[in-house]
Amino acid sequence: MYRLLLAAPFLALAAPAHAATGEAVNPWVALAYLVAGVFFILALRGLSSPSTSRTGNRFGIIGMLIAVVTTLVTHDIANIAEIGIAIFLGGIIGFTIARRIAMTAMPELVAGFHSLVGLAAVLVGWAAYLNPGAFGLLVDGGISPVSKVEMGLGIAIGAITFSGSVIAFAKLSGRMSGSPILLPARHVINLGTLAAILVLTALFAMAGPSETMPLIVALTVLAFLIGFLLIIPIGGADMPVVVSMLNSYSGWAAAAMGFTLGNTAMIITGALVGSSGAILSYIMCRAMNRSFISVIAGGFGADASAGGGEAKEQRPYKQGSAADAAFMLEQAEKVIIIPGYGMAVAQAQHALREMADLLEEKGVEVKYAIHPVAGRMPGHMNVLLAEASVPYENVFELEDINSEFAQADVAFIIGANDVVNPAAKTDKSSPIYGMPVFDVDKAKQVFFIKRSMGGVGYAGVDNDVFYMDQTMMLLSDAKKMVEEIVKALD
Ligand code: TAP
Repeated sequence: MYRLLLAAPFLALAAPAHAATGEAVNPWVALAYLVAGVFFILALRGLSSPSTSRTGNRFGIIGMLIAVVTTLVTHDIANIAEIGIAIFLGGIIGFTIARRIAMTAMPELVAGFHSLVGLAAVLVGWAAYLNPGAFGLLVDGGISPVSKVEMGLGIAIGAITFSGSVIAFAKLSGRMSGSPILLPARHVINLGTLAAILVLTALFAMAGPSETMPLIVALTVLAFLIGFLLIIPIGGADMPVVVSMLNSYSGWAAAAMGFTLGNTAMIITGALVGSSGAILSYIMCRAMNRSFISVIAGGFGADASAGGGEAKEQRPYKQGSAADAAFMLEQAEKVIIIPGYGMAVAQAQHALREMADLLEEKGVEVKYAIHPVAGRMPGHMNVLLAEASVPYENVFELEDINSEFAQADVAFIIGANDVVNPAAKTDKSSPIYGMPVFDVDKAKQVFFIKRSMGGVGYAGVDNDVFYMDQTMMLLSDAKKMVEEIVKALD
């Protein structure tokens, strides 16, 4: 990585030329964008581990600062006042929304913000098409075919990102049903529309100046439509993958626009966002044991509902109190805590940390087990535990800790449900079948905190763990229950 930094000045000397016009790019601008790109790569590297994530964030801020300042200094598209007003208005709106949004609503916020990236790509593409001179795209009185291909792809990917993200936002926020909407012959319609977009892009690139308008209009409309069609058949349980996939699309849209504008910073950052989003989608699919193609083809979880549904059957179960749980926790040698979405809703992470501290003082070994899709967004549990200053070395990923449940005295499930549901291993008809889950049934004792027996997890299915001999249901709000356990332990 540092070698790349050292090589930056030399690479800058070989400053790129604008793809369309052949006009040389100022080498200092190229150098600044390259350095910004290196900082973004360092940021991603830092963000790959909780212990280095703060440094990663700082690298990201520095990279963004360099990129923004360089763009402001070399402004040739709009004047400083216009850029200032746009930054001010956008900043105020972003700041207000980010402050108001609850941590539990973060996935839909991310989906909402992706829609803006997509829309920005469409608007930039259209602005460049309508006013190519201002974007340095005029060659012999027209736009070159290469620029038109970049423009067409940028607009198409941007429009798909926009309408897809709007649907993901509506599904995640409950404004639209999380159930898949399956149109007849949807695969044929989708493939046909995608093929039509590609053909229109080619025709647009080859068309003369007077013939391009209807082609770019048709291309834009079809791309908005396909974004909508691609996401409606995808069930609520697959939405995390969809959000990360749309994140990837928004990156590719930005990269395509970077080519149109001859802006290396946009190409680098767009490619980084595009590829990291694609890698994250792949990791999430692997965590749920799903193939990426089956997720994006849609239709999974037709019976599942995002956070809805009721457990159908009432079977006998054991219920305990905070005092019972505290007594048994004190006797334990090894406790594994499995946090899930309910911990986030209850904001129980600080009380949980207090409980773990008290147990450790009493000589109990406490570990945290994090499922890759626990909660509602990647890294959701890690962020909350870090906020409560849980030591990173006590936090383990699924594959690193799953074999330890056989030696655990207590599996302490707090607000998790789907990620401990054995139906994923045994019931082929279950919407979560095939998703790797924690082997909590191997622990000597299981404590299960949730508010009621009626409530179900995200996938909307019942859970056999509730009814196991060694399970004690602790029915209460997670924070309240853990605070009572803490009192009983004191
Ligand atoms: P879920 O299966 O969603 O279960 C949440 C549990 O928390 C439920 O049992 C619920 O029962 C309980 N709960 C809710 N509020 C509570 C509160 N205040 N106090 C105590 N308990 C509370 O959670 P999970 O195990 O973390 O699984 C995650 C699921 O979400 C997976 O299906 C995953 O595919 C999906 N998903 C994941 C993501 C990402 S990327 N992480 C994004 C979207 C969807 P009660 O209602 O009875 O309390």
